[in-house]
Amino acid sequence: MKIGIMGSGIVGQTLAKGFIKHGYHVMVGTNNPGKHGELKEKTGSKVEVGSFAEAAKFGEVLILAVKGTAAEAVVKSVGTDHLKGKTILDTTNPIEDAPPVNGVLKFFTTLDDSLMERLQKLVPGARFVKAFSCIGNLFMVNPDFGGVLPTMFICGNDEEAKKQVTRILAQFGFESADMGSAEAARAIEPLCMLWCIPGLLRNSWTHAFKLLKK
Ligand SMILES: NC(=O)c1ccc[n+]([C@@H]2O[C@H](COP(=O)([O-])OP(=O)(O)OC[C@H]3O[C@@H](n4cnc5c(N)ncnc54)[C@H](OP(=O)(O)O)[C@@H]3O)[C@@H](O)[C@H]2O)c1
Repeated sequence: MKIGIMGSGIVGQTLAKGFIKHGYHVMVGTNNPGKHGELKEKTGSKVEVGSFAEAAKFGEVLILAVKGTAAEAVVKSVGTDHLKGKTILDTTNPIEDAPPVNGVLKFFTTLDDSLMERLQKLVPGARFVKAFSCIGNLFMVNPDFGGVLPTMFICGNDEEAKKQVTRILAQFGFESADMGSAEAARAIEPLCMLWCIPGLLRNSWTHAFKLLKK
């Protein structure tokens, strides 16, 4: 299967290597042609590099891994044609360009809104699924927590897309917890704030969430 990754930062690079490891064909997208050589070097020769729109066109399944403040503009610029009907794993978090307060990141959304809902409204025909938003990049691909599978909280409006993402997450070493429709991103996106607090306060970044169930 072909995976198109819109985003060339550490998340885009990490997931590109993860998908290659699991046997997928991958194109990473950047809007900065000057990054092409560096991206090839960092992700390996099997990864193709193109623009955001080329990556979106290439992928049967897409990953959105751009800075939160740029996500809406990137989705608009890529356009509906390359996105409609496709499952889009949305890793983004609506982090404001402002310093954290006592280790708590600032968001530009409210609790009655989320970045993924905004993206879903921009392209109603795309099948956005929140995923990989509440784990650090070091632990996105088959993390080793001593045999315990960390939980990835997901949500989205399309049941088939969530099943597809659940299968991908299982390959990447996560159990999925489906929190329902796109509105649940209002609760999932702030988990990024919680995940970052130990790091920002105590430089401790080696944890993951686990949902305990009886
Ligand atoms: N870092 C983590 O461990 C982590 C964990 C979970 C979730 N996330 C989320 O994943 C997303 C990606 O994070 P990241 O750490 O990989 O890097 P990032 O610096 O947040 O994003 C890098 C990407 O954003 C694009 N970008 C930045 N400013 C832009 C602008 N003004 N217009 C268009 N594109 C712009 C860059 O474009 P070019 O390619 O053109 O340079 C690049 O592709 C973020 O939303 C973040 O909150 C991060």
